[in-house]
Amino acid sequence: MKTGLKIATIGGGSSYTPELIEGFIHYYNELPVQEIWLVDVVDGKEKLEIVGNLAKRMVKKAGVPIEIHLTLDRKEALKSADFVTTQFRVGMLEARGKDERIPLKHGVIGQETNGPGGLFKALRTIPVILDICREMEELCPNAWLINFTNPAGMVTEAVLRFSNIEKVVGLCNVPIGMEMGVAALLGVDPNRVRIDFAGLNHMVYGLDVFVDGISVKEQVMTLLTDPEKSITMQNIHAMGWEPEFLKALNVLPCPYHNYYYKSGEMLAEELKNYQEGGTRAEVVKKLEAELFELYKNPELAIKPPQLEKRGGAYYSEAAVRLIHSIYTDKRDIQTVNTRNNGAISNLPSDSAVEVSCIITSVGPKPIAVGELPMQVNGLVQQIKSFERAAINAAISGDYGTALLAMTINPLVPSDRIAKVILDEMLEAHKRYLPQFH
Ligand code: G6P
Repeated sequence: MKTGLKIATIGGGSSYTPELIEGFIHYYNELPVQEIWLVDVVDGKEKLEIVGNLAKRMVKKAGVPIEIHLTLDRKEALKSADFVTTQFRVGMLEARGKDERIPLKHGVIGQETNGPGGLFKALRTIPVILDICREMEELCPNAWLINFTNPAGMVTEAVLRFSNIEKVVGLCNVPIGMEMGVAALLGVDPNRVRIDFAGLNHMVYGLDVFVDGISVKEQVMTLLTDPEKSITMQNIHAMGWEPEFLKALNVLPCPYHNYYYKSGEMLAEELKNYQEGGTRAEVVKKLEAELFELYKNPELAIKPPQLEKRGGAYYSEAAVRLIHSIYTDKRDIQTVNTRNNGAISNLPSDSAVEVSCIITSVGPKPIAVGELPMQVNGLVQQIKSFERAAINAAISGDYGTALLAMTINPLVPSDRIAKVILDEMLEAHKRYLPQFH
């Protein structure tokens, strides 16, 4: 087995980087990482230096011989890498703010990953990830690409369908977060909990829930009808499900399902926040400023607990656990975004799906689900059509395809409003959308 692994992290200046470093430190004995290359764009130089220096202090304090390298040269970072992780945001939080605010002005939830915001994040991000794939072909053709960049499902599918990189896995913290949430709900050790997941990124359902291999789905579903006991993440306000609805749904929804099954309430909540001070982008901007102030402190040499106010909890666990299982051919079960290959029989084979997989050294092997249950199939199909249209628009720069994607998104109420939002967002994000001019 190769030792002395090289990791390249694109978007290395992200405030989430201490999560990743913490994970590599934790697994060091089983995952011999020698070099971590944190790379960012020129505009992110200052953040890269601050967070990179914290990363250096973290490995030093932990006493592990991992070298941290900081660079603005992506090619240098990619050269001979074994794993490439991506956590970048094209246009940074400024762009996220526009993704969230412009739709809201027109009475539509923006949502940076699956609403109109998600469409625009895909349009900005997909050309960049495909550039990275071309560079990987040349500089590290054997590396695994572990993508966290949102919208993670669409970005992963774009790589699967439009690049020559086959070793790609899309990763999100929602499944691990739901397992942790169930563990907390039941007061059991998270290692005893397993959820069978199927669906799409931020559109994933728990088809069954087990503790020590015994189904506890009914017990969990009953507990979840209590709003105090909702499983959610820091970026999504939990409201509690209608008990009869949850019973009839008969599968575990994910926190992002609030946007679809409680669209009216979520819109009202987002409008209220917007009027009172800003969207999530503004909240995150403040949190980031605080985090970077902490990161600057030369005495700090661990991941600060304040990072837990971000939505990406368990990111370190999810990322490093996945890399570790690929590296060691562990064959354990983890939920990732991968090529469907028939696992969900009523979704296209070449599409990315988020599904429980066995993680091997040659990648995730999805566990066959068969058809999705009738009660969730319709929404999943609709989102998959939206995703495919969005990916096609990101590649072609075709206006009609982008309008199609915007209009068929379930959060958008009409073709006319879709067009108004699309035009305004195309203009606002012009700088990052060369394919549309
Ligand atoms: C959750 C999602 C991520 C998303 C994050 C946003 O963790 O699974 O995909 O990026 O929330 O968190 P933030 O703190 O940036 O709002």
